[in-house]
Amino acid sequence: MRHSLYDLAWPIVRRVPTEWAHQLGMTALKLPVRLGSRVEDPFTWQGLRVSNRVGVAAGFDKDAAVLGGIAGMGAGFVEVGTILTRPWQGNPRPRMSRVLEQRAVWNRMGFPSDGLSAVHKRLRRWRDPALALGCNIAPHPLTIRTASEPGFVDRARAELEELAETLHEVAAFFVINLSSPNTKGLRNVLHGEGFAQELVGPVHALLRDLDQDAGRPAATPLLVKLPPETADGAAWTPDALAGLVGPLLPVCDGFVAVNTSIHLALKSAKEAQPDFPGGLSGAPLLPLAIEAQQVLAEMAPEHLRIGAGGVMSPADACLLRDAGAHLVEVFSGLIYRGPTLVGDCAAALRAG
Ligand SMILES: Cc1cc2nc3c(=O)[nH]c(=O)nc-3n(C[C@H](O)[C@H](O)[C@H](O)COP(=O)(O)O)c2cc1C
Repeated sequence: MRHSLYDLAWPIVRRVPTEWAHQLGMTALKLPVRLGSRVEDPFTWQGLRVSNRVGVAAGFDKDAAVLGGIAGMGAGFVEVGTILTRPWQGNPRPRMSRVLEQRAVWNRMGFPSDGLSAVHKRLRRWRDPALALGCNIAPHPLTIRTASEPGFVDRARAELEELAETLHEVAAFFVINLSSPNTKGLRNVLHGEGFAQELVGPVHALLRDLDQDAGRPAATPLLVKLPPETADGAAWTPDALAGLVGPLLPVCDGFVAVNTSIHLALKSAKEAQPDFPGGLSGAPLLPLAIEAQQVLAEMAPEHLRIGAGGVMSPADACLLRDAGAHLVEVFSGLIYRGPTLVGDCAAALRAG
């Protein structure tokens, strides 16, 4: 790969604490400067149209604060969020760090969010069709805390429906995220019985109604974001992954795989505590992301499949594509390789 300005700045960037560096990066992305090259490689799925196959993963721009900068990197799409119904401060700091020797990132952010109203206002101002807007949504951490109390499923569903209803006018696609390891109890909901029927199915049906009311000629896809492991952080077996995916097949249009890993965090990050380990992303996640795509390609051949996890180079993006992903997302790779990674990956995917 050719060297970029970011490579030159890296010896300084790597010494800045990770969350500060991310904030600095976000400030830079607000400047009217084009940070990458735009590759045209259109792809269409139901009502989703992207200008190329590389997007920025959820968590990078949680509040739709730097859409112009992400478009300037040359991304074909972005997953904004995770968006919550109301503002939330997330977990206490430190909650994000680099694991340099592994080209990995540890985080335990816990869904800091400006909340639906603020994010919706920013998304409504977005006009550039070259960057398709995905909305990544989840129930509020305060609601998740009541998961063992009566009426939880109704409360969680009402929040997902509120998010879907408000954001429908701006969203090219939706992703339900119940696979973050950083909100205690969230993954238990994902693995709980009835998750597909009681939470995902109704949101899917609501989106079809909203599509019809809005006269949209094609459906707004609803995807589910998957973890790279079981609820207690053990490695997936294809059977276990199949057990999670099977019930979701009739009630969603696709999958984003994968979220960050608890077991890799416990292995590699000094900040990971056994009772609240956080999640690891970056290079060590790639084999898990590839495996997930291979299982999905078999189990869900008709569904939209987005690959995320450990894409640090154009060759990694091609590995995820070859494993079955229609589209590919980057996050940790941006921290290690800088903004030109997006255009480089898009060019590699277009070249085939
Ligand atoms: C700091 C940080 C925050 C994240 N926040 C979210 C989030 O809010 N919602 C979500 O679905 N995924 C979130 N993720 C997971 C990413 O979207 C992605 O699935 C994961 O990082 C794997 O991709 P990567 O190896 O390219 O980073 C976050 C990841 C990081 C590193």
